[in-house]
Amino acid sequence: MPQDINWKELGFAYRKTNRMFVSYWKDGQWDEGRLTEDDKLTIDASATSLHYGQQSFEGMKAYRAKDGRILLFRPDMNSKRMNRTANRLLMPQFPEEKFIEAVKTVVKANEEFIPPYGTGGSLYIRPMQIGIGPNLGVRPATEYLLAIFVSPVGAYFKGGLSPVNFVTTTYDRAAAFGTGQAKCGGNYAASLLPHKEAVDAGYADCIYLDPLTHTKIDEVGAANFFAITKDNRFVTPVSSSILESITKISLLQAAQDLGMESSEEEVFVDQLDLYAEAGACGTAAVITPIGSITHEGVKHVFHSETEVGPKTRQLYEYLTGIQYGDVEDKHGWVVEV
Ligand code: PLP
Ligand code: COI
Repeated sequence: MPQDINWKELGFAYRKTNRMFVSYWKDGQWDEGRLTEDDKLTIDASATSLHYGQQSFEGMKAYRAKDGRILLFRPDMNSKRMNRTANRLLMPQFPEEKFIEAVKTVVKANEEFIPPYGTGGSLYIRPMQIGIGPNLGVRPATEYLLAIFVSPVGAYFKGGLSPVNFVTTTYDRAAAFGTGQAKCGGNYAASLLPHKEAVDAGYADCIYLDPLTHTKIDEVGAANFFAITKDNRFVTPVSSSILESITKISLLQAAQDLGMESSEEEVFVDQLDLYAEAGACGTAAVITPIGSITHEGVKHVFHSETEVGPKTRQLYEYLTGIQYGDVEDKHGWVVEV
């Protein structure tokens, strides 16, 4: 085990590990793929990924259970989403079985970097696909690379399960029928300035509104949005410009498992009074309670700016309980490495 890691103080930062997985696509097929020690890539300066954003990525985690097992959470969903992104950006699909096998191989090769059970950390897994090979005009690449690297991580938003304050932004990260549903870097490049402006103004991040009318909540730059209505329903925005979060899909079910109704519906930013609690959800963000949202200079506090709401806590404990192997996985979401 690496001696110099303080497992309880891990933030969300890159740390080189032992090995990453790399596979190349050329002439219509993927090669076998292999593990490399080097975490550098050498590609053409004219590659489509570097100029035209023909690239995608995924985010998933490996968790260390109390009994020592290593668990993945719904890796098939990451593979399916990565292939949907590939379709949108005219990149070749990577077979699901091969993807899950590669993820397991990388996780095993870096087992010593999985934070111990009880520290709250996990091993973040970052699959990525990029267009490579020489190119000049705006067209799909003729060659591709798929890599998977890992890094031990803690909380994405400072404080983990403690409320953060967000502010709405007038910028859009993705167009209404653009690439918001794809997990491609361009959406994140578009989010850097709004994020900086929000942080500079003292907020943890910004909330994007729907790009067509700017009246409904879309999502956070790196997580989906959810809220608990005052009559105890779990709701999360329906929108054509947000990423289909695997955590969100799981929480829609988890809420029902916990006796709540749940649905995807429009969340109007001028009707936040309907909600008792709110949160951001995602692989990196896990469940981050939202203390308040400031919109057009008016601050709306949900449950509290310092205390976690009871339903948010219950969902957090249930979801992370399944992910770390402490709660019965009755939907078959967990895959052992
Ligand atoms: N929305 C955006 C923009 C994201 O980057 C992420 C992170 O992956 C999510 C939502 C949450 O998705 P998931 O729960 O699949 O990690
Ligand atoms: C994830 O939650 O895995 C993400 O991809 C968010 C990331 C942009 C940090």
